[in-house]
Order: sequence, then C-alpha cells, then structure tokens
Amino acid sequence: MPYDLVIVANRLPVDRVTQPDGSSGWRTSPGGLVTAIEPVMRANDGVWIGWPGGTEEGLEPFEHDGLELVPMSMTQADIEGFYEGFSNGTLWPLYHDLVAKPEFHREWWDSYVHVNQRFAEKAASLAAEDATVWVHDYQLQLVPQMLRTLRPDLRIGFYLHIPFPPAELFQQLPWRRQLLEGLLGADLVGFQLPGAAQNFVRLVRQRVGHKTHRDLVYLPDGRTVRASPFPISIDAAGFEEMARSEPVVARAAEIREALGDPRKVFLGIDRLDYTKGIFARLRAYAELIEDGQLDVEDAVFVQVAVPSREQVEEYRILRDEIDRLVGRINGDLGRIGRPAISYLHSSYPREEMAALYTAADVMVVTPYRDGMNLVAKEYVACRYDNDGALVLSEFAGAADELRQAWLVNPYDINGMKSALLEAFNAEPRETTRRMKAMRKTVTQHDVAAWAASFMSELSDVGTHGKAVKPA
Ligand code: F6P
Repeated sequence: MPYDLVIVANRLPVDRVTQPDGSSGWRTSPGGLVTAIEPVMRANDGVWIGWPGGTEEGLEPFEHDGLELVPMSMTQADIEGFYEGFSNGTLWPLYHDLVAKPEFHREWWDSYVHVNQRFAEKAASLAAEDATVWVHDYQLQLVPQMLRTLRPDLRIGFYLHIPFPPAELFQQLPWRRQLLEGLLGADLVGFQLPGAAQNFVRLVRQRVGHKTHRDLVYLPDGRTVRASPFPISIDAAGFEEMARSEPVVARAAEIREALGDPRKVFLGIDRLDYTKGIFARLRAYAELIEDGQLDVEDAVFVQVAVPSREQVEEYRILRDEIDRLVGRINGDLGRIGRPAISYLHSSYPREEMAALYTAADVMVVTPYRDGMNLVAKEYVACRYDNDGALVLSEFAGAADELRQAWLVNPYDINGMKSALLEAFNAEPRETTRRMKAMRKTVTQHDVAAWAASFMSELSDVGTHGKAVKPA
C-alpha cells in the first residue's frame, strides 16, 4: 500500500524483546524521535523504514502501537561494512572533530553505497505519488539523491542528528563529493546548528561548484535546496509528568538512600562513546577529592554508561579504560560503603532515568563534541522545582540554547574542576535563577515543535510532491 509520508532511519523505533512466555515481540525504543514523529505519521498515513538490529532475515512489515513499520534486514557483511565500518568507524569520528581517528576503507564505502541504495529502493517502492519522504542521519546521506533518481515526484527532507564538520575536516573524505551530492537530492537539509548548515553550503560551493546564496543552493537543473538549522529537543511535558509521578518521586528517594544519603549527588548519563568525555570528567572529579575540595562522605558521582557499538574496537578500548579508571579512583579514594564513583554499565527505561535526574543535584554533561545532547535537556525538563545545577560542555549543541548552565571546555581539566565545584557550592538562589531560564527554553522548544517546524519548512521549499498535513 502506498504511503503519503515515509520516514527512513537506520533504526526502527522498536527493539526486540522476549515476552514472559518465551515468544519474541517488540517494544518502543526509549529514544525521543518516535515521540516527535508519531503524530505526523498518524496524521499522514505514514510508514517507518529501518533496521531492527541483528541479522534476522525475511521480516515482514508489521504494525506496532498503531505505527506501520517496515524492517530492513542486514547481513553480517552489511553490519561490518556499512554500520560498524563506514557509519561508525569513518563518519562518526570525522563528524565529531576527529576525537578518534577515522578509518578510510574502500570496502566500507562500497557497503555504505549498497545499503543506502537498498533503503532508497525500499522508500521508492512504498511512497505514494507526490509523497513526502523524511530521511534521517549520517548513516543514510546518499539516500536523498538515490531516491530523487528513482522517484522525481517526491518531496524529500533530510535531517542530520549529529554535527556537520568544518570544511577542513570534511575534505579528508575520499568520497566527499558523493556525500554532498547525495544530500543535495533533498529539498531541505536540516542540521542541529546554524554553523553546520553554513559548513554544508560552503562545501557545496567549493567542492561541487554550485551557486549558493545564504541558505540556498541552486542546482543546474533549476532545483533549489535549502540548508537550515532545526535544533532537536525532547518531549519536555512527558519528562516533567514522569518526574512528578509518585513512583518516580519514590524511586528518586530510594536511589539517594541507596547511595548513603550523601549531601550532594553528581550524575553523568551517556552512551559509552569516546565523544562524551566520560574519562576526563571522572578524572576531574577524582582530583577534587584528592585536592580535599570534595569529600566522599559528602558527595558521590553516579555515572551511567549505556552500552553502545560494542563490536567496534574503539568502543571496547574505551570501556576497558573507564573500567580501570573507576576501579583505581574507588580503590584509592573510596571508603567502606562510600565509593567516590558509583558506576553502572547498563541501559535503563525512561522512568529510571527520570528518577536519576530527580535524585541528582549536579548533572554533568561534558562531551568533546555532540550534535545536541538530549540528556542535558531531559535533566532540565525533570527539575520542575527549579533546582539542580547543569554543568555543560560548550561543544554540545545544547549549549547554544542552555546558556545559563555552568559552561565548560571539556579539554580543560582545571576549568572543569572549577565548574564542578561552583555548581556543587552554588547558592539555591543562583541555581534557581539559572534553572528557571533553562526550563523556559526547553518547555517552549520541545520535540513536537521541532518536527512541526521541519515539516512546515519542507512543505514550503519543496517544488515536488504535496505538502504534509500538520499533526
Ligand atoms: O543521533 C546519533 C545516533 O547515531 C542515531 O543515529 C542512533 O540511532 C543513536 O545515535 C544510537 O546509536 P546506534 O544506532 O549506533 O546504536
């Protein structure tokens, strides 16, 4: 059946789960993207194409919670070449300021082209005449052009969830021109920040030679492509509601008690990724204890590291490094029943995250580079009492909006130490003043507003296809 709206993302918004009776089923993923897109999908008879994880073959399209989902299978070779290889071994580090060294392998690129082509073909086969297709993220940058070739009638939007690098870094890519041309298949290319959109337009002018003016690219065939920023957000009301709920309030109290009722709780929650700056942040915290400026009787640092991309070498190395660091810090600085760091290598449902946010006095988000960082926004959304301090890296996209956080340069260990200490010692009046301002930003610009503004801009710019209905 043809669809008026097709969402194309590397992952489906569901995870495989084993039911109590042993059969397998699906559960909606904790990420916020599905919350944002669901209402537009429902209003427009939409479908979502993506990988369900694993190598299962022959999965049929299915419905989950009223959403139409089309699984894309991947072979072990696709996973190694397209996903772990080109997406996460080449593009991920290159787009994140070379925090790790990107690897360039021609076989990975071939696999990336092959998988992008399969996604494009699937989208082309599902889209109704003049439909809108919204393609997501760095794994699928060739899909817009491939799709345009297959189906010139479509209106195509693309959104990059991660940073888009400065020209100086992007130029290293042997396949730089193909990626730019891939993105130019879209009518609208969305980025987190204005600087990323400008990087893209500049590269298109320099590398592909198209005429550009401000946020517009003029293609020789008469088409125009717009590149604009759309900073992504969260379901702020949903998080606040959860944080106010009785079970979450009770769980937060239980967490503090289990931690030994320290005066202050620091919290970090990140995917276990080298871009997140977990190692440096824990070192800075440990030094404050060594220097005698913090005491393990007074404070504890809860660090949740969500397992991620565990087959990729860099991620395994990082895990070992953090395991060793936490062991050493706790061994050297902890006392009985009073570890300096309470470290959890696990992923948790949203309710548990809300309880952790509620239990934390100082939230520490210090990535070296991050497209946005939704954890920072989730923390703010949960602090309905206007208390709690946020220490935030200047290099997270969220820092553009959350100006009242204690902003830090994560490469500057002394600077981070000062910020952690200031946030720890801040007067309630000061934390309230800052939190109030940040809460205003997060509640006004939530994920529904993000999706609506992308869709409305796409409806304005596209010369092909018909406009989508607002949710
Ligand atoms: O936004 C960045 C992103 O890479 C998403 O595209 C992705 O779904 C998420 O982080 C988690 O990573 P992965 O899908 O590789 O587990």
